[in-house]
Amino acid sequence: MCGIIGYTGHRPAVPVVVEGLKRLEYRGYDSAGIGFVQNQDLHVVRAAGKLVNLEEKLASLDVFLATSAVGHTRWATHGAPTESNAHPHRAGSLCLVHNGIFENYEEYRRLLQSRGHVFSSETETEVLTALVADERKPGLPLLDAFARALRKAHGAYAVALMDQSEPDAIYAARRSAPLLLGIGAGENYVASDIPAFLPYTRNVVFLEDGEIIRITPSSWQIFSLEDLRPLPKSTHHINWDMQSAQKGGFRHFMLKEIFEQPRAIADCMAGRLNAAHTAVVIPELESSPLPPRLRIIACGTSFHAGLWAMPLLEEWARIPTCVEIASEFRYRNPLLMPGETALVISQSGETADTLAALRIARECRCPTLALCNVVGSSITRETDAVIYTQAGPEISVASTKALCSQMLVLLLLALYWGQRRGSLPSGFLPEALQALAALPAQLEAALPALQTEARALAQKYASVAGMFFLGRGQSYPLALEGALKVKELSYIHAEGYAAGEMKHGPIALIEPEFPSFILVPHDSLFTKSRSNLEEVQARGGPVIALTNPPKSDLNLAVPQTWIIPDAWGPLKGFFFLPALQLFSYEAATRLGKDVDQPRNLAKSVTVE
Ligand code: G6P
Repeated sequence: MCGIIGYTGHRPAVPVVVEGLKRLEYRGYDSAGIGFVQNQDLHVVRAAGKLVNLEEKLASLDVFLATSAVGHTRWATHGAPTESNAHPHRAGSLCLVHNGIFENYEEYRRLLQSRGHVFSSETETEVLTALVADERKPGLPLLDAFARALRKAHGAYAVALMDQSEPDAIYAARRSAPLLLGIGAGENYVASDIPAFLPYTRNVVFLEDGEIIRITPSSWQIFSLEDLRPLPKSTHHINWDMQSAQKGGFRHFMLKEIFEQPRAIADCMAGRLNAAHTAVVIPELESSPLPPRLRIIACGTSFHAGLWAMPLLEEWARIPTCVEIASEFRYRNPLLMPGETALVISQSGETADTLAALRIARECRCPTLALCNVVGSSITRETDAVIYTQAGPEISVASTKALCSQMLVLLLLALYWGQRRGSLPSGFLPEALQALAALPAQLEAALPALQTEARALAQKYASVAGMFFLGRGQSYPLALEGALKVKELSYIHAEGYAAGEMKHGPIALIEPEFPSFILVPHDSLFTKSRSNLEEVQARGGPVIALTNPPKSDLNLAVPQTWIIPDAWGPLKGFFFLPALQLFSYEAATRLGKDVDQPRNLAKSVTVE
């Protein structure tokens, strides 16, 4: 996702900011830009593509006098990754960089246009910049105008602002997007992440939501956005090296990415609910008809996302859906019905089998739709429509937060199509949206305890030769994913199975040394899953029952339960999933495996 850095101090600011942007490259981006004041003039230089393009432009300019600057790497959300959509955006003497989504920008775009403002990009960030300029009244400090504009903005943001008439000062603020202050000697920084300024200072203040900051070379002050009262803040000294800084203090990227899932969920929802949060909006699909049938095609973990979503697409949106593995689909003569939409799911957008399957669907003249995390990847360039999962770059080979974001987008799609068809029961949508709104915070609160329990279970079970992961309904694909993760990371043989299929063969494997992780959420299949659990227990197999907090009629008689926080309907899956991910992570670290780069695996499989 986007990266921000602002610098004010005694060094030539442009090189400092460009270097800082390079250290934020890992976040993923598709254009970049920088704003600085030199010789009393505000300059904005931007370029599509990689930072080298920006550097080439800067090389032809004399930029060494500026001692403060703001820089940005943009990961396109509103508007294509072009130079005119790149940040900073300008309005009068101001320039602004932004990470996040300004959800209610349309109403302000119209308002500002009616006051004569002409926009030169497709971005909501330009609207935010113009809104700050609009709030500026004679005698009103820029801090107040900035705060007034931000109070009107719904959505998530980290923003940094510069003004030509106050070239040494940088203003910044955050809500639900990362932003930190780096305190140096005679220089200060704001940035999305510590690596941006780590070579210059290790003294950091972590900004919180609803805080706004003003920095100059010799001062920094943090205020409450609500009433601009100054806030006391403490500084932290960072001991990390660069690599661990990119891991945000986590031991592995995988763990960091598991803990980023609440953020991924929030980012996925941003811009996909209307301003009043009463309806799902998927602008990418507004002009497409409702698909009569869906053929979901994917590989690996992305395939599990499709399986998980199938019942929601059928039940809520009443769209007949089937889910296929891309490497199988591509080598038969698939029969696709007229109008049947091929929905390909891929984190990387580069998986060779998925890309080939997509091309076959196109040859069959099917409408195509991709769910993808990487902007501009091959798959996104070849489909009729793309919905980005907005999970941010996933570095660990084993996919975690990408799956979480795919599940979330698919759930939103099922609601969206159900809403368009009118097939959702009355009162269902508000209930779903309310539950979704609460999900990121609930998950964030739940993760530490899930990790503690995962560690205890890994201690007990990481030495077995094999294990089952069993589930029914939407827990079945999660069981498949739990088993896949254990195989990928710890090289223990793990098998994911539909719990109801056990009796047709696999139950023969059950013995005292062969544990089964059985997912028994409090859903409509609870009693069925409980029966399958009892069948395993009756044959002497150790059972670890992942279930929700017991209720009078929803109880399990098992020695080992793993209590997973409950949530509305299918949102339960968003808690079971990280539990399974954390178990595989803890088992693998216990066994001393290379968690982020397991043997024989690649993040993006571009060969068949
Ligand atoms: C590789 C990765 C998996 C991923 C699969 C599909 O095997 O190791 O984690 O699920 O590819 O990748 P995609 O990018 O298409 O989702």
